[in-house]
Amino acid sequence: MEFWALPPAEREHGFAELRARAPVSWQRQPESQLLPESEGTGGYWAVVRYDDVRAVSRDTERFCSGQGVMFEDIPADMLEASQSFLAMDDPRHATLRKLVAEGFKPRAVKRIEDGIRADARTIVDVLGDQFEGDFVDAVAKRLPMMTIMRMLGVPEEDQEAVLWGVDAAVSWNDPEFLAGRPPLEVVAKSMAIMTEIAFRLCAERRERPADDLITDLVQADVDGDRLTDAEIGAFLVLLSVAGNDTTRHTTSHAMRALCDFPDQRAFLMDDLDGRIETAVEEFVRWASPVMTFRRTATRDTEIAGQPIAAGEKVVMFYPSANRDEAVFEHPNGLDLGRNPNRHVGFGGGGPHFCMGAPLARMQLRTIFTELLGRFPDVDVGDATYVVGNFVNGIAGLPVATGRAAM
Ligand code: HEM
Repeated sequence: MEFWALPPAEREHGFAELRARAPVSWQRQPESQLLPESEGTGGYWAVVRYDDVRAVSRDTERFCSGQGVMFEDIPADMLEASQSFLAMDDPRHATLRKLVAEGFKPRAVKRIEDGIRADARTIVDVLGDQFEGDFVDAVAKRLPMMTIMRMLGVPEEDQEAVLWGVDAAVSWNDPEFLAGRPPLEVVAKSMAIMTEIAFRLCAERRERPADDLITDLVQADVDGDRLTDAEIGAFLVLLSVAGNDTTRHTTSHAMRALCDFPDQRAFLMDDLDGRIETAVEEFVRWASPVMTFRRTATRDTEIAGQPIAAGEKVVMFYPSANRDEAVFEHPNGLDLGRNPNRHVGFGGGGPHFCMGAPLARMQLRTIFTELLGRFPDVDVGDATYVVGNFVNGIAGLPVATGRAAM
């Protein structure tokens, strides 16, 4: 945890050394806050190079998800309640993913673009003429929540509770978030809240169907069966967590980076509409908001010549792959015109590749176009990072100057 408490740029020194000297290395299991060591799963292979992350991601025959995808050891019932198809293998994975995938495809996202733009405009309008306070609270966390809650059909009065649940579900290593509470208690409460809301929504949508994902799920026919409320609850938790934190933290990291690289900011501002697309791709590479996913070897095999035994865990480190000097020129610099930019921020490819990528790209394009159009000089102070080994999070980012354009 000492390593994961370092700021991202300092962690990168460790990854750079591993990429150069031990690209597939055996590491001891990180301390778990949620399970005693005696119930832990032992060590794992750390995969830190770009090519190897892509190879592991794409080869589901050799590296499966069904035995867990979280880096840290987590109690089985919590995984059950939160991971849905993320931690399954095909064919079940494909069947369940298909139920919601349609709504996340580029064409479907295009259809909700106007709504997302209107939400982004509202977020920026509320800031007034002088943007003050915390960037995460006022901007970064707002749009992802508004979008995903609307798509799922979570009523406004439940949204803050779901958002707290999402925060709690990924912050169990963060002393600041826990504020003295035991991690297990906080995570259990988070699951209980989100599951309770999901169950209530399932009952309501069965009575009164609406035009939202929960309705699609209660009505879905899966090989002749209906999904159970628990399965729909796990869907809701997965989509809320995957759809909120990732885009939120990318927004915050990108804002900080725009202040750290003024020349890149000037380059972007010279043609905001024309350059925002490549900029967003670089924001995701830069932020790498999801840091780790795990697989399990299904047979004796090897990665880059390193023998791996059947049953051993393999963990992919996306921030490291996204700084791999063999693939990216100046990997530690922000290059908003980088093209091509084949980062693995959304995963290394294969059947689990991020389902929300088109949505996230649209949200990021929209929020930065609106924000920088209105506050071209907005400047933020030092970031406070979320401590943890799953999400590369920014908890706080004070706004230093934020006068609106005349
Ligand atoms: C910048 C924003 C985002 C980043 C960086 C990101 C990153 C990732 C990564 C790394 C994976 C795992 C890929 C793999 O194992 O190959 C993933 C999976 C997933 N993401 Fe995203 N994500 C983002 C936004 C979203 C959004 C907005 C949603 C919408 C709800 C979403 C939904 C999902 C889902 C459902 C999966 C599981 C896919 C599966 O197992 O088949 N993500 N994401």
